[in-house]
Parts: sequence; C-alpha cells; structure tokens
Amino acid sequence: MKILFVAGEVYPLAKTGGLADVVGALPKAFRALGDEVKVMLPGYPEALARVVDAGPPMPLAETFGFGPGRIIPARMPDSSLEVLLVDCPEAFARPGGPYLGPDGRDWPDNARRFAVLSRAAALVGIGGGLGGWQPDIVHAHDWQTGLVPLYLKQWRGGPGCVFTIHNLHYQGVFPASILPGIGVDPALFTIDALEYWGNVSLLKAGLVFSDFLTTVSPTYAREIQTQGFGYGLDGVVRWRAGTLRGILNGIDHDIWSPENDPAIAQPYSASDVSGKAACKAALQAQAGLLPDAKAPVLGLLGRLVWQKGVDIVLGALPEIVDMGVQVVLQGAGDPELEARCREAEQIFPGRVAAHIGYDEGFAHVIEAGADMFAVPSRFEPCGLTQMYALRYGTIPVVRRTGGLADSVADVDEREDGTGFVFDGETPADFLAALVRARELYDRPAAWAEVRDRGMNKDFSWRAAAVRYREVYESVQRARGR
Ligand code: ADP
Ligand code: GLC
Repeated sequence: MKILFVAGEVYPLAKTGGLADVVGALPKAFRALGDEVKVMLPGYPEALARVVDAGPPMPLAETFGFGPGRIIPARMPDSSLEVLLVDCPEAFARPGGPYLGPDGRDWPDNARRFAVLSRAAALVGIGGGLGGWQPDIVHAHDWQTGLVPLYLKQWRGGPGCVFTIHNLHYQGVFPASILPGIGVDPALFTIDALEYWGNVSLLKAGLVFSDFLTTVSPTYAREIQTQGFGYGLDGVVRWRAGTLRGILNGIDHDIWSPENDPAIAQPYSASDVSGKAACKAALQAQAGLLPDAKAPVLGLLGRLVWQKGVDIVLGALPEIVDMGVQVVLQGAGDPELEARCREAEQIFPGRVAAHIGYDEGFAHVIEAGADMFAVPSRFEPCGLTQMYALRYGTIPVVRRTGGLADSVADVDEREDGTGFVFDGETPADFLAALVRARELYDRPAAWAEVRDRGMNKDFSWRAAAVRYREVYESVQRARGR
C-alpha cells in the first residue's frame, strides 16, 4: 500500500510532544510490512537543515497569501524514511516552535499556516503534487491537518483519508472569517460541519470529513464519547462511533532501548539489569540530588500543562520527601507551573530536582536512572513516557485514564501487574499509590519481578501498524476500491 502521513511535527525534525514520536516511528513499521510511506510536514528551518538527499522541488500554487511555496522530497537523517517538506518560508521560516512564537503565544495566522500544509497534502493525495505519485490512503494527525479530508473531498478521484486524534483538547479554533481565505466554502459554517460554539474548529473538520477516525488508545476512544473528555466534541465523536477505533501507540525501540542508548551512563537489559545502578548514580549527580543508592528516585517528565497533573505530585512533595523518596522532574510550559517546580527544588535541596526546559538527552537519563516514574495525568490519550519507563525497568505510577490504563496493570489488581494505578485527582490519591510502590521497593526480589515483567512487555509498533492497516483496508473496501 502507498500511504501519505501528514502532521505538524515529526521526530527527529520537529517535536513538541508524543505526536512527533508517533509520526516518526509508525511509518518505519509500515515499511517493515512492505508498504510505501511518505511523511509530510512543514519546512521549518531546522527540518530543512537536517534532512538529506533532497530531490528537485515541486512548485506549490496555493499558499493562501503567504508567497511562494514548494514541496521538497528528501529523506530522514537517521532512517532514510521519505519526507516531503512543505517549504513556504513566509509561513514556516520563523523563530519559536511549530505552533508558538518566541513569546510563547500561538501564531495568530496558524489557521492559514496549517491550511497550506493541509492543501499540499491533499494535492499530493490526488496525485497532483509529486510527479504523479499518488497514495492509496492519506493519514492525517491532529487539528493542524483537520482540513486534509475536507480538501480531498473537494476534488474527485482522491484517496481515502484516515484522521487520528492524538488529543481532543487541542481543537484548532478560529473565527469563521478565516474560511474564504483558506479555500473553504463559508456555507460549511454549520453545526454539522465546521461550526464550534460560534467559531470554526479545524479538528472538527477532521472528525466530520475523514473516512475513518482513530485515536491512540482503546480507553481514550471510549472516554471521548463522554462529556467529561469530549470538550464539546463528544457529540460528533459519538456520531462517528461506527467508524472510530482506538489503537494503542507503540514505542520506537531504535531510540528507546536501554541496551543501546547513547544518552545513558551504562547499557543494561532485562537479562542483565546491573548497569541501571550506574544510570541512577549519574542521574543523581547530573540532577543535583544527594548521591544515595538506597533512596528510591521518582522521575516525572512532560509538558507542564493542566492535562499532565504535575500539580497533583507537587502537592504531595512534603510527604514524598518524608518517605525518603527523591524526585526529579523535567518539563516546560505553563510559567506558573514552571515557577512552582523551581520553588520545590529550593525548598527540598538535594531531594527534589527540577529541570525546566526541553532536553531530549536528559529525558533518556531520567527514564534510565529513576526507579519509579510518575504519570499523574488528568487525561492522557495514550502517553509514551510510561511505556518508555517500563522498557527501562522504571516502575510507573499512573492515573487510571486513557492509554495509561491500557498500558500499565496494577500489581495489587493483577498477577501480571507492571506498576501502580490510582483513581482520583488529589495529592492523597497519588500518595496512596506511591506508598504501595515504596513498600514494594523495600522488597527487592518482588520489585525485581515486577520490573522485569515491564521490561519484557512488547510495545513495538508492529502490532499497531497491523491494526492501522486493517483500518486502511476497510476504508478501501467502503470506497469500492
Ligand atoms: P504528550 O504528547 O501529551 O506531550 P506523550 O507522553 O505522548 O505526551 O509524549 C511526550 C514526549 O515528549 C515524550 O517523548 C517525552 O519524552 C517528550 N518530552 C516531554 N517533555 C519533555 C521535555 N521537557 N524534555 C524532553 N522531552 C520531553
Ligand atoms: C498527544 C497525547 C498523548 C499521546 C500523543 C501521541 O500529544 O497527549 O497522550 O501519547 O499525542 O499519540
């Protein structure tokens, strides 16, 4: 099968979160199944600088007022995966991140910027953008690409379009006045198309116009059909329930494997975990924690936003420190949460360490060096860091939601348990689970058994790729192909 992926970020060219990891890894799993995948993303300056083997560019006529654009075919620096960069300097050659300016605010013209990306994907989709190459399926990801299925439907003879929800909370909401400028008929400003509380939602375009919807865990697929997790779109999701499937993400073993990780102090594996002690000592030294091989270290890593529930752990810090547990957290985001983390480090020097910022290498150092790993998210479509933790023999303590519930089994609930799972949203709820983890830590043989079970779990992408392929095939059948 020929598949075109399109997303606003793809590891290792651009990354703000798990979306990039997924879109960077899943195509490699398809390639292993014998399929042909190209991945399209904006031509951010770092992406243009890092790709290799760039071929002759194809001109892009429709850039919605942004000046000249082109599609550059190239390859990933690390995997030779084929990438298509949408090079439109006025839209994408900017300082800051993929979605935010250097001031931390959304670019005000994000609707138009990602309309350029989506239009380019649709053009390649109908075979008109890349010397005649045409995919059988276009697979679009999150609100930045919500217009892809809508654009595809404007033309005849296009391929089927699968849309994956990585996070229903980010909805791409803009005023209705943007529509004429991005090639969308303003007549679509209706409740059964793009309208969302008086504005338009580009995510809703993806939900409404795609041939099939997927999301990144079975539990999240159920949750988003309820009011509490739907953020106003649960009605649309329920309406699509017959063509919605939750497929748990995998992890990329090329990048996340303690046997073979250049960022960590010493390699180790499920059959010989001895190197993990050196990784823990290195983490304590690098983070500024007291060197203490006996004290359990709890890691926490992620975007500092309400979703991730970091405040739930911050609220429990005095008790956590009293239990003799050291804490290392790394994240960036909400300035208020960043300040609270910094403050915690000052209150508990040597016991709590806060790394504010984005640091890919140190993320590996934490996953490998910590003993336990907290993921207290209020909602979590899938979550990757708990799966990385399992692979690195770092026992997760997670909230029972979304992909966390689907990837971690509680040791007190299941014989094959791999971690600790809690309900509720208070520091006390988290603490109760951490107390159980602390008790297990004091029983080294039992601890090792649970740890080894987690390390031996198979979270490779192959299983997910097989499921996505079933989805693609059902789309093909429904379209009579
Ligand atoms: P989300 O996509 O909601 O942010 P995931 O758990 O799916 O959550 O993926 C987060 C990804 O981003 C992981 O690869 C994680 O290691 C990485 N990450 C998050 N915050 C940071 C940070 N401050 N520094 C380095 N990596 C980070
Ligand atoms: C989103 C979700 C996260 C998921 C990731 C990759 O950013 O917040 O739970 O793991 O996408 O699918």
